[in-house]
Amino acid sequence: MAELKNDRYLRALLKQPVDQTPVWMMRQAGRYLPEYRELRAKAGDFMSLCRDADFACEVTLQPLRRYDLDAAILFSDILTIPDAMGLGLRFETGEGPVFDRPITCLRDVEKIGIPDPEDELGYVMNAVRTIRKGLNGDVPLIGFSGSPWTLATYMVEGGTSKAFTKIKKMAFAEPQTLHLLLDKLADSVISYLNAQVAAGAQSLMIFDTWGGILSPRDYREFSLRYMAKIVDGLTRENEGRRVPVTLFTKNGGQWIEEIAATGCDAVGLDWTIDISDAKARVGDKVALQGNMDPSMLYASPERIQQEVQHILEQYGHDNTGHVFNLGHGIHLDVPPENAGTFIKAVNELSRPFHK
Ligand code: CP3
Repeated sequence: MAELKNDRYLRALLKQPVDQTPVWMMRQAGRYLPEYRELRAKAGDFMSLCRDADFACEVTLQPLRRYDLDAAILFSDILTIPDAMGLGLRFETGEGPVFDRPITCLRDVEKIGIPDPEDELGYVMNAVRTIRKGLNGDVPLIGFSGSPWTLATYMVEGGTSKAFTKIKKMAFAEPQTLHLLLDKLADSVISYLNAQVAAGAQSLMIFDTWGGILSPRDYREFSLRYMAKIVDGLTRENEGRRVPVTLFTKNGGQWIEEIAATGCDAVGLDWTIDISDAKARVGDKVALQGNMDPSMLYASPERIQQEVQHILEQYGHDNTGHVFNLGHGIHLDVPPENAGTFIKAVNELSRPFHK
């Protein structure tokens, strides 16, 4: 395998010194890029892009050709696991993801098995292997999964939700059913992520997009507990290097001490917490990723640069431990040149912080 030419992202996650703050963007491959829309039209739809290793590789590399990014992220989706469990995933335009056969009761949960990552999910592993070759050691490749709680919300709600009444009804009226589902999901995520590492992923990220809709007690019981189980079960070293793990709970700022205590290497932050505050609370234990509001990319170049400078100052002159990112995925109507302004600003403005 080609030697890694730029390992800033991995080093910062492990709190080793870096020459500038590494940067990548959640959802950096996607519809805000015209070249993505073009390839998606050619493939037919989103899942066809994911299922074809050459398409998935091409789409992963598209943002890296435009911008000086320090990491690539596997082009796939968190909903591949529920799809492999037989729920029938569809992406409806304007509606987001939809499951034809959502989970409604204990019997549904009992029926589902742990997908074999090299069989039902073999297309994802093929994509990882193809992307690793395509990257040729330029930057590390991030593998990822959804958290069990976040996956369960889609599986029980049947798609995207606003009030989350079905999953909360299950959590509070039938907790054993939900725990069985979360436990099966945690086992599936462990085997899925370990297979991604074996296929070539050099770092792992778990997206807990919906943990932040829970009370602190319920967050611990239904989300954090299962992410901790996953962290315990992951391969943490491969190809002679540590494979860093980042946990991201959107709206999880109040729980970062508990997230850091799982043994993960880094905590992802949205924009509702000051990174200086996060650093004071958990900076001795973990690295931090974040935390610019993705909507800042609608602003003028000067305003974007000002915000980048502000976040860098908040993190301070520490030489390592910060991976710059947006606090959530880039919006689909952001002009690509604004993303360019953002990435250039991090690359240039962060250097003085690493002297
Ligand atoms: O570039 C990357 O970050 C890698 C690829 C990636 C996608 N989804 C591609 C995608 C990643 C890491 C995800 C994660 C994901 N998927 C999450 C967690 C992160 C987050 O955003 O909170 C969630 C909740 C999903 C579920 C999902 N997938 C939804 C709700 C949607 C529809 C909403 C939308 O943006 O259209 C998707 C589809 C999806 N996943 C697209 C992409 C590029 C858009 C598909 C298209 O129409 O081309």
